[in-house]
Amino acid sequence: MLKLAPSILSADFSCLDDEIKKVDSSADLIHIDVMDGQFVPNITIGHEVVKSIRKVTNKPFDVHLMVKDPSKQIEKFAEAGADIITVHVEADIHLHRAIQIIKDCGKKVGLALNPATPLTTLEYVLHEVDMVLIMSVNPGFGGQKYIEFSTQKIRNLKEMINRNNLNIDIEVDGGINAGNIDVVVGAGANIIVTGSAVYNSPDPVESIKQLRMNAFK
Ligand code: DX5
Ligand code: ZN
Repeated sequence: MLKLAPSILSADFSCLDDEIKKVDSSADLIHIDVMDGQFVPNITIGHEVVKSIRKVTNKPFDVHLMVKDPSKQIEKFAEAGADIITVHVEADIHLHRAIQIIKDCGKKVGLALNPATPLTTLEYVLHEVDMVLIMSVNPGFGGQKYIEFSTQKIRNLKEMINRNNLNIDIEVDGGINAGNIDVVVGAGANIIVTGSAVYNSPDPVESIKQLRMNAFK
């Protein structure tokens, strides 16, 4: 099933409450970009903010940890109200342990891959995860351009999942808009993150509607 996950990275941080309410009825998940200034150049949202905005919506929180050594952070975000916790395969040398920590917290496990990271990094852990996040831009900033080779990477991942008879969501994040959503959905992605396409538009609800309409064009 197709799920849309607006990223609040492009929202107005001075009124996150209103910004989340704007998309609450039309979003499937709320995508929260956590950046530590080390794994990526920017610093964004911490677990205390996640805890505060947890009161604003009942929609699942899809927490994308763009942080170094994410294992140290997982429990805090789980307690703050995350539903899916995604760590980057490049960010933790003990990836298998990080996966176990997320599971022990009772949360869904996501693994994210930077554009240049090959799918082979997933080989031994794929059966342990609920979702794989294909980054279609280099992480750290909203509003970047979709990297074209991501489409083939999504196709290859879909094939890898099918070959192993697994049931795993494919999320894609970065540069998705109403003009290219059909390409990533056609390639096999079913959870679509959109930051600027939703929050930089004058009517976020209309933008989400448009994305849904165009997804299977
Ligand atoms: C980028 C973040 C994305 C970002 C996407 O590092 O992980 O979630 O918000 O923004 P857009 O949709 O504008 O590329
Ligand atoms: Zn993200």
